[in-house]
Amino acid sequence: MKVLFIGDIVGSVGRAAVKKVLPALQSKFNPHIVIANGENAAAGRGITANIVKELLELGVHGITMGNHTWDNKDIFEWIDDEPRIVRPANFSAEAPGQGGTVIKANGKELGIISVQGRTFLPPIDCPFRIADEWIEKLRGKTKCILVDFHAEATSEKIAMGWHLDGKASIVVGTHTHVQTNDDTILPHGTAYLTDVGMCGSKEGVLGMERTAVLYKFKTQLPARFVVDEGAWHFHALLVDIDESTGKAKQTTKIRMTETDLLMM
Ligand code: FE2
Repeated sequence: MKVLFIGDIVGSVGRAAVKKVLPALQSKFNPHIVIANGENAAAGRGITANIVKELLELGVHGITMGNHTWDNKDIFEWIDDEPRIVRPANFSAEAPGQGGTVIKANGKELGIISVQGRTFLPPIDCPFRIADEWIEKLRGKTKCILVDFHAEATSEKIAMGWHLDGKASIVVGTHTHVQTNDDTILPHGTAYLTDVGMCGSKEGVLGMERTAVLYKFKTQLPARFVVDEGAWHFHALLVDIDESTGKAKQTTKIRMTETDLLMM
């Protein structure tokens, strides 16, 4: 089974990148299941019901979230009715939504789990223990499981990769928006990448308009960040999984610009 995981989609520029690139990747790689991190899809903060619909219509089968899950308040009205979206499983037990699910597409089944880190992010329940609990819940349904670890620190992400080696088929990091160059298959068969990267403007700072970010860094004064409208880049990871064992066989990092797309 081939799984394509798309890094944090940032605003309308990121969604436009997905719209342009995904058909080309579908033709070239024929992924069975496409998962995307959508926590920045609505103007850089959160996601809306309309954007969920838009991403699903583009060919995304499942959506993971992160620390911006609740930024658009309308999410409280629909998240419990949308089975294809997961928010960090280590949020409060009182939080609506689900931390994991099984995505079915093209005759294949993939468990997906979202967990959020605790280093340089708000203190929440233990992502290591909660990831184990969710893997245990989903394992009876499928051997193929993807964990999106939405975390800031590379150390915490690498530690999660080792913790889940042999338990999950894929462990990918999101949140930092910069694709790392360490994709690997760990000794017990887990495909791992510290951060998948992002889909959005490559001319801003992590997808946001750079003037305001620079102003804040240089003056230490408040600034309102907006999504940058510059040229996009698109980052993803493709993983081939042996369905009989749930172990990863191959990883392919994808890093594209508009120019790369024209040359495909
Ligand atoms: Fe985030």
